[in-house]
Amino acid sequence: MKRVLVVGAKGRVGSLVVKGVEAAKDLELAGAVDLGDDLGAVLARTKPHVAVDFTTPVSVFGNVSAILRARVHAVVGTTGLDEDRLGQLDAIAREHGVGCLVAPNFALGAVLMMRFAEEAARFYPWVEVMERHHEKKLDAPSGTAFETARRIARWRKAPPAVVAEKETAPGARGGRVEEVAVHSMRLPGSIAHQEVWFGGPGETLVIRHDTVDREVFVPGVLLAVRKIDGMKGLVRGLEPLLWPRS
Ligand SMILES: NC(=O)c1ccc[n+]([C@@H]2O[C@H](COP(=O)([O-])OP(=O)(O)OC[C@H]3O[C@@H](n4cnc5c(N)ncnc54)[C@H](OP(=O)(O)O)[C@@H]3O)[C@@H](O)[C@H]2O)c1
Repeated sequence: MKRVLVVGAKGRVGSLVVKGVEAAKDLELAGAVDLGDDLGAVLARTKPHVAVDFTTPVSVFGNVSAILRARVHAVVGTTGLDEDRLGQLDAIAREHGVGCLVAPNFALGAVLMMRFAEEAARFYPWVEVMERHHEKKLDAPSGTAFETARRIARWRKAPPAVVAEKETAPGARGGRVEEVAVHSMRLPGSIAHQEVWFGGPGETLVIRHDTVDREVFVPGVLLAVRKIDGMKGLVRGLEPLLWPRS
């Protein structure tokens, strides 16, 4: 039985991961850690194979560093890790011979949305990302929007500038991730939603994903937990597990 520690176990997503691990016949819950618990002590006492982190952008780097240094694989859903921090986690994971899978979104539909957007970006230089989340989300833009924009930028040719824009309300045209405009909305009644808008002469293409229940994240998290053995260093997203040869 693979032993799994959940960090952020009382949170909205972490609590569902705890239930998912408990319901899985091939997994055992090694421990459940939340704010105020001593993660280092729990790692030493429970010796899990894998730890899953769904905490906060402020605490995730410290948590995951401690997990990797204890030679425990990490599956990370918490958003807000920048490229510098991801590079540091890669180095720590390699040094300790374990894997660190960081996915901005564990929902299959969101993974497909990012893939389809990346494909469309090869043909449409005009593109903007619009994400909407619940009002308690701490970081903006969302990790999914950030990663979508990063991937679009890989393929996109810059659109010709047709007008000199002036923002009379600062921020009206959104933020920029590698020159791709990203717009973030925070509203009660939302979970996680994203639309990627492409425009061409005479047409609009919209690729959209809606999360209607956080249970959608659990199968992707458990897939990563099951497949992380043998991985070393940073693994970005679920894609290498879903399309191993692409
Ligand atoms: N990758 C994905 O598919 C995906 C999906 C959904 C959400 N997310 C991300 O996952 C993160 C968690 O989301 P959520 O909605 O579950 O948030 P949440 O409900 O606020 O849960 C976070 C939990 O972690 C606890 N916590 C805070 N600091 C901690 C620490 N240092 N050690 C251990 N536990 C700590 C919090 O305790 P307190 O409440 O006492 O502070 C809370 O119980 C966010 O960054 C969110 O954007 C990712």
